[in-house]
Amino acid sequence: MDQAPALKLFPQTAQIASDGHLHIDGLDVIDLAREFGTPLYVYDAETISARCRAYISTEGYRCALSSHYPAPAEVTYAAKAFLCVRIAQLIASEGLGLDVVSGGELYIARQAGFPTARIHLHGNNKSASEMAQALDTGVGRIVVDSAQELAELAHIAATRDVVVPIWLRVSPDIDAHTHTYRKTGLLDSKFGLPLATGDAARAVQAALSSPYLTLRGLHAHIGSQILELEPFCRTVEALLDLAEEMGRHGFSLHEFSPGGGLGVPYVDADPGIEIETYVRSVSHAVVHGCQTRGLPLPRLVLEPGRSIIGPAGVALYTVGVRKEIPGVRTYVSVDGGMADNPRPALYGAQYTALVANKADQRPIETVAIAGKFCESGDILIHRVCLPYLEPGDILAIPVSGAYHLAMSSNYNHAHRPAAVLVRDGQARIILHRETDEDLARRNVALS
Ligand SMILES: Cc1ncc(COP(=O)(O)O)c(C=O)c1O
Repeated sequence: MDQAPALKLFPQTAQIASDGHLHIDGLDVIDLAREFGTPLYVYDAETISARCRAYISTEGYRCALSSHYPAPAEVTYAAKAFLCVRIAQLIASEGLGLDVVSGGELYIARQAGFPTARIHLHGNNKSASEMAQALDTGVGRIVVDSAQELAELAHIAATRDVVVPIWLRVSPDIDAHTHTYRKTGLLDSKFGLPLATGDAARAVQAALSSPYLTLRGLHAHIGSQILELEPFCRTVEALLDLAEEMGRHGFSLHEFSPGGGLGVPYVDADPGIEIETYVRSVSHAVVHGCQTRGLPLPRLVLEPGRSIIGPAGVALYTVGVRKEIPGVRTYVSVDGGMADNPRPALYGAQYTALVANKADQRPIETVAIAGKFCESGDILIHRVCLPYLEPGDILAIPVSGAYHLAMSSNYNHAHRPAAVLVRDGQARIILHRETDEDLARRNVALS
């Protein structure tokens, strides 16, 4: 079985079998849907590993960036894209670090036995308890987001009489040309210390003068689903300018992270940027920028989330009701929707689909794929041309690995879906489907 062009967006082990069924890692997804129910999220371990390895070598915590970056480098997976214990273990085994943004993500990472020294804590409003937890568990770096947090962290460190290695998150005022809600590096942003106002420079000086903080580096993250290289390179330049300026105050840039944000194609028309192209471009920007400023090369840290896990995941839904409005539109409803994938409603994100039990059939009708939740905006795909859809068909939506389950909700008291990891021809559950008991657990009846 060769991978058909229609499978370009699917995990790399996806194939169409002679009976017209979609297979992932040799497993018929119709069997998976039957065994585990739908909606079901199927993650392909081979795709995750291959995408990790595109960033980093397999030989331990050592970087394959070395072909483009002639100094130490590392990759930390952004857990917010999708985290569960098994995925954290897979990421750890591939030699990556982990970027967490909450006590909850840190907790799951620790349940997975993730080496805490390879964990970095981010977030624009970390609680005192999250910072204390990070200190007490030996998290590798805390990425300080504001002057207020800098003072608070120094205080927490002082009460423990420890010195905390930190980075500062800088807001460089760079437009990442992505959806407004996914831009995080503009001046008008809740994230980071603005360069333009002098807050970033003042925070560098404050950090340098604290006996309880060691300022190891600078960080910026300008947004997500970015499909151009130039904004990343401008970010590098902006932060190196700050590093050069702060050098006069005794600052040395030992570590440097231009964040994550590399986008992936969701539909055929989307441009794609290879991981290697992105790594090369960012590496060159850092090398060139440091050379022109006479700065030694810092340890380079990349923080991809979506580009590792997004293309590894497929969402499976069962087709239910058809509603044909002649001359207007045909709605085909599935058994999931905005509660497991809020991205179309939130960002107008576009997707395509394959009918997993009719993957060899020609598309004959254009339909809208509707979710089952009580919002008119709960449309997963506005227009997609597919074979005739009937109740019971299994619809497979590719590139569902990132920011779906991670952002899922219990809207309408939905049960959050199960997830399975397929590897070596076997499917193992990595997240159980929620049950009515799970939904009831938090309720308290009035007596
Ligand atoms: C600080 C930080 N790093 C990395 C990422 C990962 O971004 P992406 O999944 O687009 O690679 C994010 C996501 O928003 C982030 O906030």
